[in-house]
Amino acid sequence: MGIECALLLAELHEAAFHGGEVWSAASFIDLLSMQGSEVVIALIDNIPAGFILSRTVLDETEILTLAVHPHFRRRGVGRSLVRAILPKGQVFLEVAVCNNPATALYEACGFVKAGLRRGYYRDGSDAQVLVSNAF
Ligand SMILES: CC(C)(COP(=O)(O)OP(=O)(O)OC[C@H]1O[C@@H](n2cnc3c(N)ncnc32)[C@H](O)[C@@H]1OP(=O)(O)O)[C@@H](O)C(=O)NCCC(=O)NCCS
Repeated sequence: MGIECALLLAELHEAAFHGGEVWSAASFIDLLSMQGSEVVIALIDNIPAGFILSRTVLDETEILTLAVHPHFRRRGVGRSLVRAILPKGQVFLEVAVCNNPATALYEACGFVKAGLRRGYYRDGSDAQVLVSNAF
């Protein structure tokens, strides 16, 4: 998928992170236009249920965001999306230290803690850096 799905991604992101940071369709167009970026969208009965947006630079892939619509949670959608990009090589991401569901998902997919970024988010909260342990 390319920039034509930017509005869909913004809607899914808002539904998934409701009350959190809003990423506009324009910001998704910018992200999708970056070299090495890729989005995978999960469909359930042809309905977009979630997506993962990643960016690969040389041999490293960063998960920029992962979102599953609340209606489709705990059905393995998040796990499938993360698994879809693991073959890219070494994968890393930042996740809010308070985001227990996402941390549990990444750990279930084999990610391990690799560091802490203090004050990473706009509200001043910290992020955990996780890395896939396939290598
Ligand atoms: C985190 C998120 C992507 C998980 O998506 P999901 O499709 O519900 O996850 P899955 O069904 O694939 O769950 C896989 C495993 O992750 C863990 N997990 C997922 N949600 C969890 C929760 N709420 N509490 C505890 N563990 C959870 C479990 O180990 C689960 O396996 P199980 O269902 O067999 O116990 C989803 O909750 C979401 O979109 N959250 C808001 C956005 C977000 O935080 N994104 C990540 C930013 S880095």
